[in-house]
Amino acid sequence: MNQVPDYHHLPVLYEETLEAMGINPEGTFADGTIGGGGHSAGILERLAGQGRLYGIDRDADALKATLARLGEDSRLTLIQGNFHDALALLHDVTLDGALLDLGVSSWQLDNPDRGFSYHGEGPLDMRMDASQGMTAADWLNREEESAIRDALYQYADERWAARIAKIIAETRLQHPFETTGDLVRAVDRAIPRAVRQRDEGHPARRTFQAVRIAVNDEIAPLSQALEDWVSLMKPGGRFAVISFHSIEDRVVKQTFRRLERGCVCPPKLPVCVCGKQPQVRLPKGYPKTASACEAEENPRARSARLRVAEKL
Ligand SMILES: C[S@@+](CC[C@H](N)C(=O)[O-])C[C@H]1O[C@@H](n2cnc3c(N)ncnc32)[C@H](O)[C@@H]1O
Repeated sequence: MNQVPDYHHLPVLYEETLEAMGINPEGTFADGTIGGGGHSAGILERLAGQGRLYGIDRDADALKATLARLGEDSRLTLIQGNFHDALALLHDVTLDGALLDLGVSSWQLDNPDRGFSYHGEGPLDMRMDASQGMTAADWLNREEESAIRDALYQYADERWAARIAKIIAETRLQHPFETTGDLVRAVDRAIPRAVRQRDEGHPARRTFQAVRIAVNDEIAPLSQALEDWVSLMKPGGRFAVISFHSIEDRVVKQTFRRLERGCVCPPKLPVCVCGKQPQVRLPKGYPKTASACEAEENPRARSARLRVAEKL
């Protein structure tokens, strides 16, 4: 697709993130989830002629939107890839600061062709990189019922996980999943009407979150990826990570704490045998959440949490 996507996404915690990164105008920075370039526009504004910014995204359309927004800029290098592969993508780079703004963009969510949304009908795709991997429909049509149930529990705390997985397994025998509407209807059949009416929000929102996380393998590699990003930073470099749900935020919090602590020996051991040294300092005042004003203006910001680690 050569068209530039009509990309709408308000960057969350914008000022807080740029402040947290402490941008030095001559420094080298990376945005591992550049999306439509919202945060990166601010980074570039703060960079002088010698500054560098690497922008990564899995989604080719996001990179097109960034290029359309920021234009050709000798300081900016765009890379299509997975930030989990940062060591390979940024192999000879050392960073003064980095940002990961996790999850999906509003544009991806709102675009029915991408299959992330439980509103309206679209192909049940949900891949951030639409050029590779299994679609959500393939995943739901092929995966074991128990694996679907576990994903719903683990990635979305869905208390109707077992029933939803059972209905999915029954439904696909009659008619394979193809559209977002197929999945919404399966969830509707699984969750009792009284519960659906009582609950706030759309009944399928947790299922869509869990399936998206499973299809894009968002959680299992995250902790190692965060460690890899820290290893790319210069001493004093600031690493800012924005997460949008508790499962993701827990991984960020626990990984940063582990890197802050260094030693990972069991507390029973009288002396350290692992030899691990603290790698980061966790500046005070974090996590930061959106102000009431931002949350009102941008509902996506309500669940956002910004955490920061500074390389020692
Ligand atoms: C919340 S949006 C980022 C928005 C961006 N900060 C802005 O202001 O425009 C998240 C972006 O990260 C991308 N993404 C998610 N997981 C990724 C991964 N593992 N590797 C690379 N990009 C990823 C998505 O495709 C999406 O474009």
